[in-house]
Amino acid sequence: MQSYPYIITISSEKGGVGKTTLATNLAIYLKAMREELPVTIFSFDNHFTIDRMFEHKGQRLKGDVHDMLMGARAGEVVQTGQYGVGYIPSSMELGDIHERFKGPMTLTRMLAESGLSGIIIIDTRPDLNILTQNALYAADRVLIPVKDMPSLENCRNIFSLFEQRGIDKKSLALLPCLIDERIKFEGVFKDLKTLLRAFAANRGYRCLDTYISKSPKVESLNTNPDGRIYPILTHARGTEVHGQFAEISRDILRSYDATPESRACLYYTWLAEKEGKKKESYLARLEGLAERCLICGALLAEQPDGRGFYYETSDRTARGFLHDACFTDMLCAALYGMTRDSQTFDAARMVIADKAGKSVSLLIPKTAPSESKLDYRQFSTTGEQIFQKDVTLDGFSEGRLEGINSGLYLLLNESLAGYEGKLRGDAWLAVHPVDPADPDAVLHDERYRSLQKVQGQIGAALAYP
Ligand SMILES: Nc1ncnc2c1ncn2[C@@H]1O[C@H](COP(=O)(O)OP(=O)(O)O)[C@@H](O)[C@H]1O
Ligand SMILES: [Mg+2]
Ligand SMILES: [Zn+2]
Repeated sequence: MQSYPYIITISSEKGGVGKTTLATNLAIYLKAMREELPVTIFSFDNHFTIDRMFEHKGQRLKGDVHDMLMGARAGEVVQTGQYGVGYIPSSMELGDIHERFKGPMTLTRMLAESGLSGIIIIDTRPDLNILTQNALYAADRVLIPVKDMPSLENCRNIFSLFEQRGIDKKSLALLPCLIDERIKFEGVFKDLKTLLRAFAANRGYRCLDTYISKSPKVESLNTNPDGRIYPILTHARGTEVHGQFAEISRDILRSYDATPESRACLYYTWLAEKEGKKKESYLARLEGLAERCLICGALLAEQPDGRGFYYETSDRTARGFLHDACFTDMLCAALYGMTRDSQTFDAARMVIADKAGKSVSLLIPKTAPSESKLDYRQFSTTGEQIFQKDVTLDGFSEGRLEGINSGLYLLLNESLAGYEGKLRGDAWLAVHPVDPADPDAVLHDERYRSLQKVQGQIGAALAYP
């Protein structure tokens, strides 16, 4: 079997937060802890820190990052550097590359095909240009160094990039860096790292348990008479930072070991098996789509046929496919109290199915302490409201799931659940019909953009009725 790399991207829109120090030293610690593990590093920045740290003087170079981005196989331009770390030499000028990088997954594909295995560490520039974005999407883990409130505020852009693309954010984690342990505060947040953690949690950002202290010794490692940069592992063993890097590296190795299929592997396999049965589950895992039909609970990878609807919540935290039959039966029950035993079921169901298949359904739960109800609406493809009905949600807040509305309750619960069993306030769910012959087409660029436009119009119409 071919092996694929596991990718770690270090990113932050702020400079001077310790990205490069983290990237380079992490490579050295990982290699030192696991000698047989290939570790490769490269940078999209042009400060040549990587080169100063890893190059063997006088070695002939086979190419650089620019060559790789122009299509040279990464495995062929990588140099075996100091400490056993492989590095791809930096390039002065990557400006012309932006043209080539139209898609967000180009780098993922390049690295999957690179012939490199083990761990790849990518150090990025302090911006969110297309190269940084590619590095973010390729990564199994993204470490975002934050050193103060402004750098924490800046993370928002990375998180919203993932939200806009509907990519699972579980790869993202903040790492408090350059923490000056001498600074103490009065009150709840006794020091800077506690403060940063609390603010990160408040914004829903995951934060590593470890942090990196500010150390004058570490700072001095890149100012040497011979122009080299020395590693923490060999030249700052006495510092707390040494222990902190060891801890982060152990954490990374744990998640590396726990990941049988890295993102590069999933993506590449998906590309290769585009026509195959496994497509749905690969795509789902990559894009954060629900793996199951929320109404019947079946795994969509196992039962991909019959997908007739795609749903997405207003806050985009839940999205996925529903079986045609599941959604139609649910509407029959919720809107007209009809089940399969009802006398006129078949005839009525045909009408309901026909209408649902031609319109966008909008589900807006209104939960009040006294009574919960659902505002259900249908819109034509041209955006006119063609149907509206209030559905009382009896037993919903008590968690009763066995009645006539069980399908509806499952759908609402799974897609709009917030804290403590309550639904998220203000959030709504839109259900769009898809082509049953090619449901995934709804996720393709242009189709998906127009769906996003519809979602936006619904949101605007609800906000300003
Ligand atoms: N743990 C640390 N303690 C003290 N100084 C550090 C530490 N980590 C990095 N630095 C210093 O901070 C500066 C910025 O670090 P760098 O890694 O280049 O950040 P970035 O890549 O985000 O711009 C450098 O001068 C570096 O030596
Ligand atoms: Mg840097
Ligand atoms: Zn189903």
